[in-house]
Amino acid sequence: MKAKRLIEVAMPIKEISAESVRDKSIRQGHISTLHLWWARRPLPACRGVVFASLVQDPLDDNCTPAFKEAIKELLYKGNMYKPYADIPYTTAIDPMEDNPRNRLMMFIGKFSDECQNNMRLGKNTAPANLLSTGSLVKWENKNNQELLRNARLLIWISYNSEQSPESSYNALKYSFDYAVKAIEDAQNKLYSLIDRHLANDKVVSAENELRRAIDYFQGQMPTVFDPFAGGGAIPIEAARLGCKSYGNDINPVAHIIERASAEFPQKYAKPVRYSVQEFKRVYGTKGLDIIHSGQGIFSDSIVEIGNRLAFDIEFYAKAIIDKTESEVGQLYPKDADGNKAVAYYWVRTATCSNPSCRAKVPMLKTFYLVNTPKKSVYLHPVIENNQIEFEVRYGHYDEKNNPGWNNRGTITCPCCGSVTDIEAVKNESITTGLKARLVAMIADSNKGKTYSIPNQSVRKILEKERELSFIPSGKMTRNSNGGDTFPWGFTEWGQLFSNRQLYTLNKFVENYEELRDSLPDNEYYKALMTYLALWMDRIILINTSFSRYNVRRETLEHMYSRQAIAMTSDYPECNPFSGSAGSALNQLSWLLDYVNNEQNNPFPAYFNNASSGERTQFPEKSIAASITDPPYYDAIAYADISDFFYVWLKRMLGPLYPLNFSTPLTPKTEECTALKHHHNGNEVVANQHFENKLTQIFDAIEYQTTDIVSIMFAHQSTQAWTTLCNSILDARMNITGSWPIDTEMSSRTVALSGGALESSVTVACRPSERRGFGDYKDVKKAILSKVEDEVNSLYALGFRGADLLTACFGQAVSEFGKYKIVEKADGSEVTVAELLDMARTSAFNALLKGVQGDEYTRFYLGWLQMNGMGETDFDDATKFTRVGMQVDVSEIFSQKLLIRDGNKQHLACASEHLGSSVSQGTRLEDPLIDQVHRAMLAFEKGDRHVLLTLLHGVGADDQNSPFWRLVASLKELLPDGKDLKAVEGLLGNSDNLRQESREVDQHKPEQMTFDFGIE
Ligand SMILES: C[S@@+](CC[C@H](N)C(=O)[O-])C[C@H]1O[C@@H](n2cnc3c(N)ncnc32)[C@H](O)[C@@H]1O
Repeated sequence: MKAKRLIEVAMPIKEISAESVRDKSIRQGHISTLHLWWARRPLPACRGVVFASLVQDPLDDNCTPAFKEAIKELLYKGNMYKPYADIPYTTAIDPMEDNPRNRLMMFIGKFSDECQNNMRLGKNTAPANLLSTGSLVKWENKNNQELLRNARLLIWISYNSEQSPESSYNALKYSFDYAVKAIEDAQNKLYSLIDRHLANDKVVSAENELRRAIDYFQGQMPTVFDPFAGGGAIPIEAARLGCKSYGNDINPVAHIIERASAEFPQKYAKPVRYSVQEFKRVYGTKGLDIIHSGQGIFSDSIVEIGNRLAFDIEFYAKAIIDKTESEVGQLYPKDADGNKAVAYYWVRTATCSNPSCRAKVPMLKTFYLVNTPKKSVYLHPVIENNQIEFEVRYGHYDEKNNPGWNNRGTITCPCCGSVTDIEAVKNESITTGLKARLVAMIADSNKGKTYSIPNQSVRKILEKERELSFIPSGKMTRNSNGGDTFPWGFTEWGQLFSNRQLYTLNKFVENYEELRDSLPDNEYYKALMTYLALWMDRIILINTSFSRYNVRRETLEHMYSRQAIAMTSDYPECNPFSGSAGSALNQLSWLLDYVNNEQNNPFPAYFNNASSGERTQFPEKSIAASITDPPYYDAIAYADISDFFYVWLKRMLGPLYPLNFSTPLTPKTEECTALKHHHNGNEVVANQHFENKLTQIFDAIEYQTTDIVSIMFAHQSTQAWTTLCNSILDARMNITGSWPIDTEMSSRTVALSGGALESSVTVACRPSERRGFGDYKDVKKAILSKVEDEVNSLYALGFRGADLLTACFGQAVSEFGKYKIVEKADGSEVTVAELLDMARTSAFNALLKGVQGDEYTRFYLGWLQMNGMGETDFDDATKFTRVGMQVDVSEIFSQKLLIRDGNKQHLACASEHLGSSVSQGTRLEDPLIDQVHRAMLAFEKGDRHVLLTLLHGVGADDQNSPFWRLVASLKELLPDGKDLKAVEGLLGNSDNLRQESREVDQHKPEQMTFDFGIE
């Protein structure tokens, strides 16, 4: 029998979460900057999950000796991976045992010493310093060759020692070193050849040798597959760790992005050497200019370039820019001071409904062009009869008395004061179209951005309509949740651009096509043209008439900031030739950053573009781990929104990828989503389609996978869990672990019941685990005991609150998931929904068991762990008090622990709980939560005497009193806000407070018995 994988027993979720939150704000060289894709998983989460899904749990009885030895050899030297002397994110003193499992966790992610100290002091740490330098998931380590080598070696040993258990660590390490050296030798040989772009016999033979060396290495590493690969985050991390990594996505746009992310840089972003003569022949003087700008080394006879792909992308992109600018550059005139325009600011106009006015009213919501703390510029209207002109003024205007003329689509005419209803404006938009009017120019100068009114000659250039060679065709699809452009008559992809924008974009694309058709027809140039097409996409995306100008940051923003295209009444028309943010050159720099950042990894991932769920895609049980992040019902309409890119990519890349771009728009029928507009408006059928597809895809990966299926899921609502569990269990797999990972800014408690996109859950499953019938009574007993054990061990690892609950929940499900069917005494089958309810209850009961004391306090803590402070449905309270609690729901409300609001409720904060009462919580016999809330309020008010008297009166002058343990528990569970501040204040001053309260002249009362520990 094989050992469990690490992901089934433990995960450093706090560390991975911290780095995943940071990942959201990393831009330079990040995969997300290559090309937009929706719902990307953070790289640290992907790297951590892939690694933990592939290595054995070293404490498992079946763990191979070679793997244990590997951990000793690699992770026990020095203090780098020594577990925490005191887990920093818990308020109690929690030493972390120094054992191989915990060492392995620290290798994945460990908080730096600085961060550990700061956490204890309640201080923040700069994001880049959160994790120690030795953490595998740290952003900076994605190119740390020594660290990656150790990660690959650990996976190699774990995997191969299971294939041949008799092999020693040394023997396996020897074979690893041999395989790595073969790759290095082959790379050196190939990359030292002069003029390897000519692909003569010598070059082809060296290329084959390198390919064989890589295949040899990856052939001895586990195979990893992601059936919903999207932007490629999971496959790239699996490949980075040296695995044979496969990804599949139904969407051709995603497929192209994946290849550019995780296949082409690994294959082609490599050094190249040219003879000077050959270099000049290929690149001419323009190429020499790039070399002289620092992109390579130029000696007498040889030109050396560190990254051939990046060099070529830059060279050919600049050639396209130059050519296009020579053709249409005159359409982008400078401002009156000779500064290059960054953008031209257009506003759509609506016709005033007053028949005697009919003014063309610019639909301005605000007159500000910029409004930052340091700079404000606005358009000052100058009105004569029904003619509206503007002046640019620096400073502020009276916003209150001069609101914009456009209030959510309803227009107030500044000439006659008439109001034109939104429906009339929409009608004009649909029937004749809303004309756009040029109102300002934004230029770059040495004083920053300047704003001016365009003069007549500029207007003449900008207002001229031109004949177009190509307008993207194809109908857009309505957004299921509304908020799109359809009510305004914008229903086709081609309508998202102004005539000028399309004219210029066509020139860019024509020059792209000319280049594409002139280059040699081989895989390298196909990769090169792929990047240039993605670069075009970036230019196209910023050049729509639905882009926005951010007046707070003075930046241009594209229209897909959300997952639907919203109507805009004004837009900045970007000057692609400005060189500033948004321009073609700037878009190029993002792309180059990515390609330069990914040049060190020799292992490509391999991608397929089809609907997943095909059992025959891989032989039976040929994949070690499937790791994926599936779509969720109608959350994102991937195919619908990616058509924006598809219509352009089809034109540019269609000849290079004929099969991928054979359909007029992206394929929709087989997409695993629940979009009712793809099912004749029938929501039930749409949901059914999603659920069936998900199960079918899980079924196929169960058939293909041997060890572990890890599923990242961005939803934690009851329905999400039910769907996920149903699909997993129906596909004959069982859940063996579940870990919450935060991906947004707040790392505070996220309740299990509140569907929250900011925290995702990773569920580890075992294929082929379900057998026979289970008796409900036995299953229930087994769940209870398993969850209790789990609470103890997870608590020791620093898990608390909702994290602990989610982790236990997975364990509870694993008990009933062992059986194909669980039956009640009367022979009826227990539904998955019922079993999930039971699992949740058991997990919660196990949590509460450790919390002893009065029922109100237990209730408060229990609810906080389960639901946080957010609103929940009224029903939940009744369910809750049935779960191992002795309190009546009516008492909970009369004690003001829960506050009711219609058919919702939320947990009371300290002030809501104690309200106007002055004595509640001051007596020794009062519930502990009342006493602590009273102290929090006194602290907040700064009422020191009251606070000291209270502490003395309730026996809190003793460090070990239950009072302080409750305060410490609240610190771990409360979300950011007033209560958390008060609790932190009390804890931060606890030594002084205790000391001073002992001096309060009062009789010391007897102490209650109370324990907040976990049994
Ligand atoms: C949540 S996203 C994956 C995001 C990805 N993990 C990332 O970080 O970029 C889900 C993906 O599933 C793809 N998808 C939907 N239905 C599919 C199907 N039937 N077969 C394969 N892929 C599918 C979508 O196109 C989308 O890219």
